[in-house]
Amino acid sequence: MMRKKLVVGNWKLHGSLAENEKLMHELVDQLKHLHNADFGICLPYPYLFQAQKILAKTPILWGAQNVSQFYDGAYTSSVSASMVAEFGCTLAIIGHSERRSYSHESNQKAVTRVKRAVDAGITPIYCVGETLAEHELGQAKSVIEEQVLALFGLDDATYAHAKALGLVIAYEPVWAIGKGQAAKPEQAQTMHQFIRALIAKRDKTFAENVRIIYGGGLTPENACTLLTMSDIDGGLVGRCSLNAIEFRRIGEVASDTKQCVVEIVEEA
Ligand code: 13P
Repeated sequence: MMRKKLVVGNWKLHGSLAENEKLMHELVDQLKHLHNADFGICLPYPYLFQAQKILAKTPILWGAQNVSQFYDGAYTSSVSASMVAEFGCTLAIIGHSERRSYSHESNQKAVTRVKRAVDAGITPIYCVGETLAEHELGQAKSVIEEQVLALFGLDDATYAHAKALGLVIAYEPVWAIGKGQAAKPEQAQTMHQFIRALIAKRDKTFAENVRIIYGGGLTPENACTLLTMSDIDGGLVGRCSLNAIEFRRIGEVASDTKQCVVEIVEEA
């Protein structure tokens, strides 16, 4: 099964009107020749309007880094999925580990947010990943299993709609995020394969089609070893998404992994 790779930049709490304008124009320029992968950026809410203005006529998708678990109501500071959809967002990161840890976001809450995104026609990028402590205790698979199976708590109509929107799963081992040190490719592949097998238990066809992307220390230097793994369908990129050249270099690999054969052979 050939799944088109997807590379999404997670800008986190970075940017300003001036910096974003420069970076988005650079990205448009740098990515314009890469047609064999999909690209997107998820940026802070106040800049979604700016992203819509700059990216609307380009192939680059834009999205939010979360959406509220509520449709509307007295929830000060919350931003709903339908609000971000008004700014042309087609993506939303849900359940990122920085949300799970700093805001104590449970699987249940994350899955409710997935539902809100789907109801607004937005493709969720549902993040899963174990912490360092869980990793060291050998609990990685059980944590991931719980996080992935939570998705099956969606009602049938929402689940069908999520599939139609191309729901993405991001495996982001928490111990690899922001450390400049990614998981070993075989280690990541094992988890991606495990996630796909979990989905296959419920839904074989979707398991074949779902894009499972890797995040945590993805760089131009390690992109070849990670993105050539058979179950790794792209990347969720933090630090290197803030530099258009580095993001393009990761994108080049995603767009054409054949170039990696030469590189990996040369390294051996
Ligand atoms: P880094 O690429 O900076 O490790 O961040 C990964 C991440 O959290 C993407 O969502």
